[in-house]
Amino acid sequence: MTQACPELEYATERALGHALSLLRDGQIVAIPTETVYGLAADATNGEAVARIYAAKGRPSFNPLIAHVSGADMAADHALVSPLASLLMEAFWPGPLTLVLPLRSDSKVANIVTAGLETIALRAPSHLVPQKLIAALGGPLAAPSANMSGRLSPTTAKHVAASLGGAVPLIIDGGACEAGLESTIVEVRAQRLFLLRPGPVTAEQVKAATGMDLLMSDLSADPQAPSSPGQLASHYAPRKPLRLNVSEALPDEFHIGFGAIGGDLNLSAGGSLVEAAAGLFAALHKADASPSTAIAVAPVPREGLGLAIADRLRRAATPGQAGLV
Ligand code: TXA
Ligand code: MG
Repeated sequence: MTQACPELEYATERALGHALSLLRDGQIVAIPTETVYGLAADATNGEAVARIYAAKGRPSFNPLIAHVSGADMAADHALVSPLASLLMEAFWPGPLTLVLPLRSDSKVANIVTAGLETIALRAPSHLVPQKLIAALGGPLAAPSANMSGRLSPTTAKHVAASLGGAVPLIIDGGACEAGLESTIVEVRAQRLFLLRPGPVTAEQVKAATGMDLLMSDLSADPQAPSSPGQLASHYAPRKPLRLNVSEALPDEFHIGFGAIGGDLNLSAGGSLVEAAAGLFAALHKADASPSTAIAVAPVPREGLGLAIADRLRRAATPGQAGLV
């Protein structure tokens, strides 16, 4: 038996039961959807979501899509305008992801939205995610189930070849119907921005809403959202932030790691998974504290630590970026 041999199961009720117990346990599972295979975790469990990044070797905390059962569950996590509702009625369940304002009381973990004030939501039409979301009673965070920088997988074999032993279970639902990642549209101020073209076309959106999809070109429109994966700064605290700080100054809120306790320790036991899961929440807390500045303890730059370093670099004051 080689290492690169995760359990591969056909999409039977038994396999779904197995997947569900893993998800409830905070583990990740590769699942088929109608677009591409996704690497799923309970979106409300930050540590589970951090395992997605670790398995993919993702260099930065790109925000993830939260997969929901439909408009009702979407409304638990996002502010749904009439225009967004119209799009849900027209294209859900199916390959359309909507980026909407995040509700402050959403239970989705901070790491899913990478600290943004928006959330990407999609209701898949595939029965496997539908059944898992219904049984879990909450959203599944799932990026495409490939190593970072590789092609998206459209068969279970692609997933096994790309992620190998990093995933405990791959559910085999055959080849994906769309084979192309979902169309991503941001609904902002009564306008629609195309963040990623996909199976739902601009013509279909126009037919359903009477509106054109605008391109998210920052140079043309400073109000336009950034394209997915190109968000230069996902979440930058308002306060100045120093990196690799073992001993903080009196006016600094110190975010610790391992033996360096700080005001708030990302992981006393030195776990990068735990640190990644709590990173955005820690930055938010530091920002909201009475301290005038933020200092972060050194975090090892290996595995998930690279993604943490990438996010901290983006969060740091420009002059400090070189220190990470
Ligand atoms: O078809 C799909 O969408 C597949 C299946 C598994 O559902 N998922 C997928 O996820 O393609 P992923 O992570 O490979 O791509 C999601 C994209 C990323 O480029 C990310 O930057 C963008 O969605 N995204 C997520 N949340 C966002 C947000 N709040 N604002 C802007 N872009 C966002
Ligand atoms: Mg992807």
